[in-house]
Amino acid sequence: NRRLTAEKALGHSIVGDGPAMRQLLETISRLAPKDITVLIRGETGTGKELIASLMHAQSHRAARALVRFNCAAIPGDLAEAELFGHVRGAFTGASQARRGFFAQADGGTLVLDEIGELPLPVQAKLLRALQEGEIQPVGAGKVERVDVRVVACTNRDLAEEARAGRFREDLYYRLAVVDLVVPPLREHREDIPALAAEFARRYAERFGMQDVRFQPELFDSLQRLEWPGNVRQLENAVARIVALSTGGEIGLEAFAAASAAPAADADAEAPPEGTLSLREQLDAVERSLIRRTMAAAGGNQSEAARRLGLSRGSLIERLKKYGPMVAR
Ligand SMILES: Nc1ncnc2c1ncn2[C@@H]1O[C@H](COP(=O)(O)OP(=O)(O)OP(=O)(O)O)[C@@H](O)[C@H]1O
Ligand SMILES: [Mg+2]
Repeated sequence: NRRLTAEKALGHSIVGDGPAMRQLLETISRLAPKDITVLIRGETGTGKELIASLMHAQSHRAARALVRFNCAAIPGDLAEAELFGHVRGAFTGASQARRGFFAQADGGTLVLDEIGELPLPVQAKLLRALQEGEIQPVGAGKVERVDVRVVACTNRDLAEEARAGRFREDLYYRLAVVDLVVPPLREHREDIPALAAEFARRYAERFGMQDVRFQPELFDSLQRLEWPGNVRQLENAVARIVALSTGGEIGLEAFAAASAAPAADADAEAPPEGTLSLREQLDAVERSLIRRTMAAAGGNQSEAARRLGLSRGSLIERLKKYGPMVAR
């Protein structure tokens, strides 16, 4: 079974027995061995990167490099040199020639994460690399041939970005030859118990705890939540529950203490005015969690957002809502 072999290669088991995920995983198995560019779309934390790695692990390139480039993490003017490399003296500070990510991925797979953030001038170069299989290091007079399979990920609506002129249309069509969508967790809730169990097992092992078990009511509650931060948010919530527990059977109390995920029907269940509403209690939990995570991340918003399973935008929104918080 190719999926199991791939999971072993990834060092991770991939949960997805419900119909939505099963269909996606089947599609991956069919596409992986074929050298075709794939665009993976999905909300934050849905598992795009995992799917991209699975694509590599199931391909004939599996024994070669899997290189990941985060287009959002590199300032625009450096992205070109990072991707395609540069010669010595190509720009101030380029005291040595450097191979880029494309060259490093030669024979293997290059995952371009958050492709929607790639600056327009670099998009033109990328298009050429995809079409001709050629790259030109910054400052180099000649081109180099590379054999790289590109898998691009985005949480944006790239078609819309292209229509609005923020993304090259020709590159969009070149990337979206195969356009896969990883469903948000709320659209495959049937996988939540298995995901939670897998994460509980993983974190119990990591924390050196034996015999950690979730009670059925806990699985039920997790399954009912909305999870705007998708699988990553669920993973973080389970990690918190396990970390705060003393082991053994874990029930709803642990969840109430550890959870920061707003209930799907929070508004509907708000108690009469005058008492502290569920909403307010959840806000208090959320606020303290954000403050602690911001501190733990040394005030780095992107890192804090990642740990919380939020997009950076929604973290910033919450920081505004809860007032300034000084991180140390
Ligand atoms: N089906 C799954 N089975 C097991 N773990 C999963 C699954 N989907 C996602 N995960 C885990 O959830 C976390 C988030 O996944 P990943 O980083 O791939 O999401 P992403 O879509 O790339 O997020 P972002 O948009 O923030 O970059 C990872 O730790 C990943 O291993
Ligand atoms: Mg990602």
